[in-house]
Amino acid sequence: MVNHFLTIADYSSEKLHELLYQAIELKKLYKDGGRDLCAAGKTIAIFFEKPSCRTRVSFETLANQLGAATIYLKPEDVGSLGQREPIKDLMRVMNGMVDMFVGRVFKHSDLVELAKWATIPVVNALCDKYHPCQGMADIMTAYEHLGDLKGKKLTYIGDGNNVSASLAWACFKFGMTFCVARPDGYDMPAELYQQLKSQGATDENIIVTTDPKASVENADVIYTDTWVSMGQEEEKAKRIKDFQGYQVNMDLVKLANDNVKVMHCLPAYRDLEITDEVIESPYSVIFDEAENRLHFQRMLVKDLLQR
Ligand code: CP
Ligand code: NVA
Repeated sequence: MVNHFLTIADYSSEKLHELLYQAIELKKLYKDGGRDLCAAGKTIAIFFEKPSCRTRVSFETLANQLGAATIYLKPEDVGSLGQREPIKDLMRVMNGMVDMFVGRVFKHSDLVELAKWATIPVVNALCDKYHPCQGMADIMTAYEHLGDLKGKKLTYIGDGNNVSASLAWACFKFGMTFCVARPDGYDMPAELYQQLKSQGATDENIIVTTDPKASVENADVIYTDTWVSMGQEEEKAKRIKDFQGYQVNMDLVKLANDNVKVMHCLPAYRDLEITDEVIESPYSVIFDEAENRLHFQRMLVKDLLQR
């Protein structure tokens, strides 16, 4: 069976801990000027249906650092998924030529179809349902700033979207409490809660509320993401109205633990979901978090190519 990285849910807590600790070791090696050319001679195809700064730059950079080449492909190059040719044909061509397929796509079901036909690893670089690379870079950042994560509380304020879904899984796998404060109508899918419960999550470690102030009580991490994800631009005006009262601002941050860390996956829309003051404050670890996209994914790619 080929190993992919489509969702955090697919990975055991043990394997995710192992990847976290190894990613920290590899980060240290690279910070100290070392190199690990384990992927020399390999090629990674990076196919993106949506724009990206952090994800693209981190994959291109880590490939270079591991000795691999990349091919960046947009729908204008190879065609939209399933339109110029069936996904199963595209994937079988990739199997014969490259060593890994990194995909940022609109539909999670397209990644599942790609993985079904793949004999090389497929990595989810964001889809409508999940953003697992982000979730694990977030865990790495929280761990570096807070130490052991077991029993710590992460509060996510805002839209129940792809980023929150991966965070919910990441928190569960690392023994954290995940609290989400969102307006009615913007919750994560019911099936996600069912899946988490089927793996042992309880009402104590997955908390859902409409009250941002109550949600940050005892929080070790406050996290937010845009209210308008890529592809939802037409709903922008309605969403901005519906999310009033859910902004992460200094008044809210001050209600959490004194040592609280504020995170955001970026890009951030300043003074909508989060204020400029919070982003630039000592509470913010947002740029460490962005950098950790590189460090976690470098270990993930090394691991996937060596399995
Ligand atoms: N956080 C994140 O995935 O950023 P990009 O969309 O810029 O890759
Ligand atoms: N939820 C956002 C995340 C961007 C990294 C989106 O999907 O656009």
